[in-house]
Amino acid sequence: MERQKIIAIAGPKGGVGKSTISANLAVALAGIGKKVIAVDFDLGGANLNVFFGICEIKHTFDDFVSKKISGLDSAVIKTGIENLRMIHGGDMPNIADLPFNQKADLIVQLFKLDCDMAILDLGAGSSANVVDFLYIAHKTLIVTTPEVTSVLKVYGFVKSALFRWLAVHFKTRQSVGLLSLLEKARDPKNHPELKTMDDFFRNAVQIDPETAESAKKILTTFRPTIIINRVRTTNDVKSGDSIKALMGQYLGILCAEMIIVPEDDTVRRSIASMKPLLLQNPAAPFSLAVKQLALKLLED
Ligand SMILES: Nc1ncnc2c1ncn2[C@@H]1O[C@H](COP(=O)(O)OP(=O)(O)OP(=O)(O)O)[C@@H](O)[C@H]1O
Ligand SMILES: [Mg+2]
Repeated sequence: MERQKIIAIAGPKGGVGKSTISANLAVALAGIGKKVIAVDFDLGGANLNVFFGICEIKHTFDDFVSKKISGLDSAVIKTGIENLRMIHGGDMPNIADLPFNQKADLIVQLFKLDCDMAILDLGAGSSANVVDFLYIAHKTLIVTTPEVTSVLKVYGFVKSALFRWLAVHFKTRQSVGLLSLLEKARDPKNHPELKTMDDFFRNAVQIDPETAESAKKILTTFRPTIIINRVRTTNDVKSGDSIKALMGQYLGILCAEMIIVPEDDTVRRSIASMKPLLLQNPAAPFSLAVKQLALKLLED
């Protein structure tokens, strides 16, 4: 029986705090007694090790991808923090082109890791790799900052993930009709009749009812948690409401949770000293918010 949970952390933009939250969330969960492995998936921009002050790394994720090691478990390294280990991403610029077989193998290996929870710090953006790993995760956390431009990008990010999952689903089922309907839905200006996912599925059930019904499950099971990081004002706190509304209305996606993480000057200092803030200052506003997030994840 599968006991391990995969938590994926992603977001449409770089530099919004994905790694800071991944590292500290991993520390929080380990502190609660979970055996955690933090996996640096930000291939090409791997830096999760820095948050834990780890400099010497024998094997990395890309050693597995380039077949220098046969199992991903050989790349697991200690962090010096009880219950917490990590896998360093290495420097793998071509990861965006991971072929399907290798990706499938990687997923199998991820599920085999000996831990209670694997935290995947995915890179910014919605490349196929990021989106495919979101698909297999038990829980997806999407990190954004509160500016309107950033928040709106979350909508685009979720939309492109959904479209990819639906396309894969329709391809697997060889539903040519639904694939062509999906193509039209990508262009809502010329196809206003397919503006929302509700519209799409209303049309889809006429074309291929069985495949359409099974595809609907993709929407109903995807319940991302949106993390608004670096919140300063009460307006910032409300910035998530608009994505929640947009995602519900147009994509038929309900956010499981909206989590607010405050701007906290001590974050930068903790990164500079290469020690997670949660250990350095467990009572800092950032640490308290991340601990709350960890507890929420354990409730699920
Ligand atoms: N809540 C916060 N308060 C203050 N500063 C923060 C907060 N969260 C993150 N930061 C700052 O933002 C910077 C970028 O964070 P981080 O590296 O985690 O982003 P990222 O999304 O992982 O970036 P990339 O996409 O490049 O991997 C960090 O140096 C950190 O100092
Ligand atoms: Mg990062």
